[in-house]
Amino acid sequence: MAPSTPKVAAAAARHAPVATIERSPEQRALEVLRGAFARFERVAISFSGAEDVVLIDLAARVLGDEDVPVFSLDTGRLHAQTYRFLETVRGHFAVDLDVLAPDAEEVARLVRAKGLFSFYEDGHGECCAIRKIQPLRRKLAHLDAWITGQRSDQSATRADLPVEQKDLAFSTASHPITKFNPLSGWTGSDVWAYIRRRQLPYNSLHDQGFVSIGCEPCTRPIGPHQHERDGRWWWENATDKECGLHAQNVSRPVRFVGS
Ligand code: ADX
Ligand code: SF4
Repeated sequence: MAPSTPKVAAAAARHAPVATIERSPEQRALEVLRGAFARFERVAISFSGAEDVVLIDLAARVLGDEDVPVFSLDTGRLHAQTYRFLETVRGHFAVDLDVLAPDAEEVARLVRAKGLFSFYEDGHGECCAIRKIQPLRRKLAHLDAWITGQRSDQSATRADLPVEQKDLAFSTASHPITKFNPLSGWTGSDVWAYIRRRQLPYNSLHDQGFVSIGCEPCTRPIGPHQHERDGRWWWENATDKECGLHAQNVSRPVRFVGS
């Protein structure tokens, strides 16, 4: 073979196939978080489960010494294990954790009128509106962006989930809100591989067959080969399984009391 000259080498390099540099789901998520924290001062992670612990850990890597801004919606109906988990996370990371409560009078009014389990009769919309959506709306009034742990493979309603979107459910004309979903492209296996590798805390209910965990009366463990969200609001259709935190995932408008 003839020896290569600098000119030949340059020509060869010009015609060589361009190597595609694939970013891993982890690199992509770090990039989204870096952008979110660079662009927004008033931004926080919405925390309840395994995905959100991953987000907190990734955010801590991005923010270095700064506390990670985090909030959690305490509906008053969470499992005892979930409350313990919240405090474990508070102790594990440097987080500024804001645990939000629903309006006590609104809760009392609902319970007086319909009892503690009305959602089994007439759907979860009304209870979720009081215990989750209204507290979230109050929190988002003080933020310009929030970060969720949704994944696009979690359900049909999340299939087209982008890593960044305008929050159509909570933005107003005078106060636009951006929503980041950095784990949109992650699978459940990616999440658990990260948790194991980084030795992160997780909700002990996961060791008892629970996969997707919400409020105690509306969550149950699943069996082999069931979809991960089959244990949530199991008495409702799969396409109704958005509580309003992520209402824009469903094309049909969702109406919430008080919204
Ligand atoms: S839900 O709408 O069906 O309850 P899911 O449990 O899948 O949501 O969680 C998706 C994301 O919504 C979580 O990763 C988290 O960012 C946010 N989220 C859900 N529940 C809460 C909660 N109680 N407090 C704060 N954020 C929550
Ligand atoms: Fe109420 Fe169930 Fe919604 Fe929790 S998930 S706020 S208990 S309806």
